[in-house]
Amino acid sequence: MPKKMMKKEEKSMEIKIEKSKTKKSALKKLGMEEEILKKKLFFEPNLKDYEKTRKIFSWKKTIKEFSKHENLNAAYIALDKHIKTWRKNKIALIVEDENEKIEKLSFLDLYRLSNRFANLLKDLGIKRKDRCFIFLPRVPEVYIAFYGIIKNLGIAGNIFAAFGSQGLKDRLDDSEARFIVTNGELKKRIYEAEPKNIEYIIDIDGDVNKESKYHEINYKEEMKTKSSYFEIPKTSLEDYCFMLYTSGTTGKPKGVVHAHEALLVGMLTADWVLDLKDEDIYWCTADHGWVTGTMYGILANFALGATSIIYNGRFNAEKWYSIIEKHRVSVWYTAPTAIRMLEKEEEIYKKYDLSSLRHLCSVGEPLNPEPIKWGLKAFGLPFHDTWWQTETGGILIANYPCMPIKLGSMGKPIPGIKADIVDDKGNVLKEYQLGNLAIKPSWPSMMREIWKNEEKYKSYFVKGWYITGDLAYKDKDGYFWFVGRADDVIKTSGERVGPFEVESALVAHEAVAEAAVIGKPDPLRGEIIKAFLILKKGYNPSKELEEDIKQFVKNKLAGHAYPREIEFVNSLPKTRSGKIARRVLKARELGLDVGDISTIEEY
Ligand code: WT7
Repeated sequence: MPKKMMKKEEKSMEIKIEKSKTKKSALKKLGMEEEILKKKLFFEPNLKDYEKTRKIFSWKKTIKEFSKHENLNAAYIALDKHIKTWRKNKIALIVEDENEKIEKLSFLDLYRLSNRFANLLKDLGIKRKDRCFIFLPRVPEVYIAFYGIIKNLGIAGNIFAAFGSQGLKDRLDDSEARFIVTNGELKKRIYEAEPKNIEYIIDIDGDVNKESKYHEINYKEEMKTKSSYFEIPKTSLEDYCFMLYTSGTTGKPKGVVHAHEALLVGMLTADWVLDLKDEDIYWCTADHGWVTGTMYGILANFALGATSIIYNGRFNAEKWYSIIEKHRVSVWYTAPTAIRMLEKEEEIYKKYDLSSLRHLCSVGEPLNPEPIKWGLKAFGLPFHDTWWQTETGGILIANYPCMPIKLGSMGKPIPGIKADIVDDKGNVLKEYQLGNLAIKPSWPSMMREIWKNEEKYKSYFVKGWYITGDLAYKDKDGYFWFVGRADDVIKTSGERVGPFEVESALVAHEAVAEAAVIGKPDPLRGEIIKAFLILKKGYNPSKELEEDIKQFVKNKLAGHAYPREIEFVNSLPKTRSGKIARRVLKARELGLDVGDISTIEEY
């Protein structure tokens, strides 16, 4: 049982469960009494009977059916196949920016433009498996480039535009990417990063520097000259499709690689869980730099033929509601932090006509009962929690429209997926016992590789289980309940941040001698990043220095991964081998028992 990061109450709960098996009181301790919400649905859900589907489901049959597509390339299945149908002129994508500029692209527009882009890359000499990164805000070119890359059987790498030079460099160097698509503003960061393997920078603004040591490509000019016809090479389900960098406790971010087959799980779950239908206007608020924005923002949603909307701008409650009202959004996939931010500005929703909404889903962090209750009040609909990870490629545990919601539970595994709770040795635990959330490999959207890091890939698997890194338990009805992370990974506003990356960025600051970083519970953001810093000789703590360090990390690493809280200290708890004992810092921060510290020294 991983006890490291368990809160005091959780530990005592575990003991209680193990000893007396009195699950009710233990659940109460976690504030997770079973409260079942039976909704009245005003629509016919795609998945009508969860238990029945689960019983009869077979991967073999499903894969066989999926393999009947003319081409198994995810770009064909998500986009090109529609060109032969009535959807050809249907709006596929609506993009609105902060200034209310609205662009609309049909499936045919996206098809043609992505073909032009595919030809552009082909003429530049892209080869199978070449990494091509997309470093852009939420603009249509993200979609055009993504499809263009994967049509060439290149691996598309999406990077969140908030990343600074170091964050960028880590990703581009590790993946040895040859191509990157960006805009005039973000291009500067690529130059600061000095990536080692980049050969081509494709600038969508077209203001290119001909003297550059990289080949800068004028997107606008080049696209005009390319054919809008492109024949996708024969693609197998195992061909690599996209990669996303994600963080763990140790080391730099790792490149999680997915195959074209991942779309199969994306499509099944966009159907069963997001309940997408042809007539839907669908809004996934996640950035394409995260796996949600890739799988349910670029791929599965298009594959199901829904119209998708993206908002390229900062969070603003009025703006968000106006998007729903103006575009008549019907299915909305968002995250708990965003829901809490909306809830904070309590009265605003009343000013908008949000009656187009029919189905709401959430992902990325625990969805507590409170935001669900608020959703019911504000929209007359409950948020449906969904659980998954960058590594799992698609939703694996969820609440379905056809199934009662137990408030605070992640729901049940999708048909075809076997999930369970196991101890550290991979032994299955009983109902209500707290342990590692684990999935039986393999499912079609399981990551195929951690880029060039086989050892890391293997470390996910114990005794025939894929270990997720999350702590959870299962109840008597087969619902799963999230309890916490088993490692030091931080989830801030739903975004995954590794403490090591932040610590590395911090010690690069001239004033910082040593740094330790933890996730500190926060009522709005789930967690915030808190840093404990030892300053170098000659530097003194001050508000200005604190601000300077925050700004430094923002610029260097990422806008979302800087410590909102800094505490200057004279020493840090470390293990005998000199590793920072983050669990001790965290326990102290939370006022909890620090546990066994016989191997910890403070210096
Ligand atoms: C981690 C994965 C794939 C979606 C975006 C996140 C946490 C995810 C839930 C949920 C509680 C959740 C877990 C997981 N997480 N969904 N419904 N309830 N926690 O992908 O960045 O790879 O993060 O997010 O800790 O392991 P990611």
